[in-house]
Amino acid sequence: MRWPGIIATYRPHLSLAGHVEVVTLHEGNTPLIEAPRLAAALGVEARVFLKCEGMNPTGSFKDRGMTVAITAARVEGASSVICASTGNTSASAAAYAARAGLDAFVLIPKGKVAAGKLSQAVAHGAHVVAIDGNFDAALDLVREIATRRDITIVNSTNPYRLEGQKTAAFEICDVLGQAPDYHFLPVGNAGNITAYWLGYREYRQWGVVASLPKMMGVQSAGAAPLVLGHPIDDPETVASAIRIGNPASWDGAINARDGSGGVIASVTDDEILAAYRLLASTEGVFAEPASAAAVAGLAKHGRARQIEEGATVVCTLTGHGLKDPDTATGVSAHPINVAADLGLVEAALGI
Ligand code: F0G
Repeated sequence: MRWPGIIATYRPHLSLAGHVEVVTLHEGNTPLIEAPRLAAALGVEARVFLKCEGMNPTGSFKDRGMTVAITAARVEGASSVICASTGNTSASAAAYAARAGLDAFVLIPKGKVAAGKLSQAVAHGAHVVAIDGNFDAALDLVREIATRRDITIVNSTNPYRLEGQKTAAFEICDVLGQAPDYHFLPVGNAGNITAYWLGYREYRQWGVVASLPKMMGVQSAGAAPLVLGHPIDDPETVASAIRIGNPASWDGAINARDGSGGVIASVTDDEILAAYRLLASTEGVFAEPASAAAVAGLAKHGRARQIEEGATVVCTLTGHGLKDPDTATGVSAHPINVAADLGLVEAALGI
């Protein structure tokens, strides 16, 4: 059966007005892959599952929120949308806006967006402007522009984005038949942790699941305002997707952490890159560095023996590894180059 996308699947659970013409690229229904080799490599005696959001149409979880935000924008008569982005939001906004026949405007931090993401925004015809400033400055400008002009913001400050993104929690519960005990995910602007917590709480409220997970947010040490407890001016990390110093959904993240008895922790860039390589080499799952932060967070809590034996753990892998080819080729060995000769090729292969 063809998967119709998250709006058609979860329509009764989404606050979206009556009869609308849905803008979809059939996002959602992403694989929840059990990862025993990764768990063993991390020394974690829990059942670990990977929610592979890189399998969405534009390669990240943003598509879940964008189908709802762009559908609503069109219903409300918008002709254009705007976002600030570290890359994935702009890729998704550009694609869904193209599908809806809307103009997309995008502000990005100059030189800090991974090549795959930028190529997507450009390919889908968005008007892309790079600013001398970080994501936080770009979002401030976007908010300013939206107050002066009739352009709809599709950052996660738009509540329709969170409505869509909460469906990932529904899918996890639908597959597991229960909520996990722990849910690890990277935190940047903090929309996604807010959305997951909303989704899990709604499923419990409706009696679909009996329990709630501990929400385990993970920030990069160089961009960890929620861990430090105050915004920071110059966030820096290899995980460019979460290079954010002043998350818009600050309160949502704190509510998710405290309401669930969870933690928001930080991991170093080295820990992120180690998790990035481990994920790809133990399970065949290629996720971008920000996504690997979730796994690095699990590793950290696992080392501290904070995950009990037999627990069910989900890590959201928010974006596909192909988004950021420069990090991929920068951290792994380059191919050995030889002539097209059997002896030389076998020698090079070491067989
Ligand atoms: N992982 C990836 C791959 C992301 O692109 C983002 C955010 C996050 C995690 C963090 O999610 O912001 O909801 O806490 N990317 C945004 C963007 C900021 O512009 O693409 P969050």
